[in-house]
Amino acid sequence: MTDTINGYARRWWKEAVVYQIYPRAFKDSNGDGIGDLKGILEQVPYIKGLGVDVVWLSPHFDSPNADNGYDIRDYRQVMAEFGDMADFDALREALHAAGIKLIIDLVVNHSSDEHAWFVESRSSRDNPYRDYYIWHPGTDGAPPNNFTSIFTGSAWQKDEPTGDYYLHLFAVKQPDLNWDNPKVRAEVHDLMRFWLDRGVDGFRMDVIPFISKRPGLPDLTEAQRAKPQFVYSDGPRVHEYLQEMRREALAPYDTLTVGEAFGVTLDQTPLFVDDRRGELDMIFQFDVVEIDRDAQGKWTPWRLQDFKAIFSRHDAALDAHCWPTVFFSNHDNPRVVSRYGDDRPQWRELSAKLMATLLLTLKGTPFIYQGDELAMTNYPFTDISQFDDLWIKGQWREEVESGRITADAFLANQMKISRDHARTPMQWTPGANGGFTTGKPWLAVNPNTAAINAEHALTQTASVYHYFAEMIALRKTHAALVYGDYRDLLPDHPQVFAFTRTTPDETLLVALNFSDTDVTVDLPHGIRMAGNYADERPALRGWEARVTRL
Ligand code: GLC
Ligand code: CA
Repeated sequence: MTDTINGYARRWWKEAVVYQIYPRAFKDSNGDGIGDLKGILEQVPYIKGLGVDVVWLSPHFDSPNADNGYDIRDYRQVMAEFGDMADFDALREALHAAGIKLIIDLVVNHSSDEHAWFVESRSSRDNPYRDYYIWHPGTDGAPPNNFTSIFTGSAWQKDEPTGDYYLHLFAVKQPDLNWDNPKVRAEVHDLMRFWLDRGVDGFRMDVIPFISKRPGLPDLTEAQRAKPQFVYSDGPRVHEYLQEMRREALAPYDTLTVGEAFGVTLDQTPLFVDDRRGELDMIFQFDVVEIDRDAQGKWTPWRLQDFKAIFSRHDAALDAHCWPTVFFSNHDNPRVVSRYGDDRPQWRELSAKLMATLLLTLKGTPFIYQGDELAMTNYPFTDISQFDDLWIKGQWREEVESGRITADAFLANQMKISRDHARTPMQWTPGANGGFTTGKPWLAVNPNTAAINAEHALTQTASVYHYFAEMIALRKTHAALVYGDYRDLLPDHPQVFAFTRTTPDETLLVALNFSDTDVTVDLPHGIRMAGNYADERPALRGWEARVTRL
């Protein structure tokens, strides 16, 4: 495809809808309580039924699972709990046969401390792999600088036998690779080719802006310490490395690349995605998912006006050489319906459909996270022992065990923001463990599986699942929903989000009521294309979503 629509070069990945799978929590095929590749294979028809074009698989590589696979021990092996390479090939084949592309997670800012490179690297100062990681003797018996790990605590770990410190911007078991070493970059290009040659269609790149470290590793200022990601993402060589990666590894293949751009500001976004630069196709920029976080990263209420303003701001800042993503959730965020919608029984499905309408009508490639098509909700956590996430455990030690805040305050915040809300197993049936496993699940299944499950959704024509399918189909038949100009009609309205998408051929109007009360707004009339209520009334009813053609 080389033609343009509305000034945008057409690309398959701009027109695609992506579905993210977190394998551990998707479907267990052998009763060990852990989701696996055969489980995903069984559910290819379910995925296909949504009409998505691409599956993004969260890490499926050999890993000791300190961070559920985001700590890779061997980039060329499949995690034993998930199956083997034959299972991977079978899944890729089945997806391709269903017309679905497969992208995998490239986690190369860091590896596991159990990776052979690190085992060598830590063994002595003159080991040939020493420079694969970032080592420092420390200063006066203390860590080299005040960098904090994203997962709490110092980002430096003193290591025997050498007594030097290594850098880990995430967990202690996730040492940062030294990208300034050309051998490391060549290794990464090589492992990318390994998977591309096995038929994968691209990569989601984990915390990719962090790969270049600031020379001299200067201390963070007090202000930077609360959100160090804005420093870690801003190393001087990141663009050089991404351009090299494009040339050395990606160029011969027809891929989709999307970088997880933690710490990247809107101003910096074109540097990563402008199509004349040869870096990434798209990034996940964090403005939307940080809307309800305060300066310390704690939960804070959000306002619709601020939420809407993000999309206008992004649209104004990105020209036709840049392509956005749209995502409201993933394995690091709470559930969409509990966070942006209303998960009380009378509004859950309506508000989930409203969020689906928004996801699939904004400008940018939409990413659906598993279970959001069922309007799965946050989990009713009541105790620290119910969580799995190492981040939460670190925060608990730092904040509660130190006496800084109470357990109740801690849990109240985590009820809003915990990553584990997204990681509870998929709810397939109303039965035991939601049909996820015949064994004991690694993380508890939400008790509301009795009412919220795929089996039920598939039989109901009005289900959220079928609504997603309908909205995906609508997006596919209206180029305006992909490439159309974006205009917010009511930026200051506190309850209603209303915008148009326009190409020279047509204008579609999207009207969304982000509240549980009727509201009347003055909007142009048109022909109804989709909506989450069966009929049309002058007022927008609670959580009503409508798409009309003007
Ligand atoms: C990314 C992943 C997250 C992981 C972290 C470290 O943010 O999405 O799940 O914990 O990187 O790899
Ligand atoms: Ca299993």
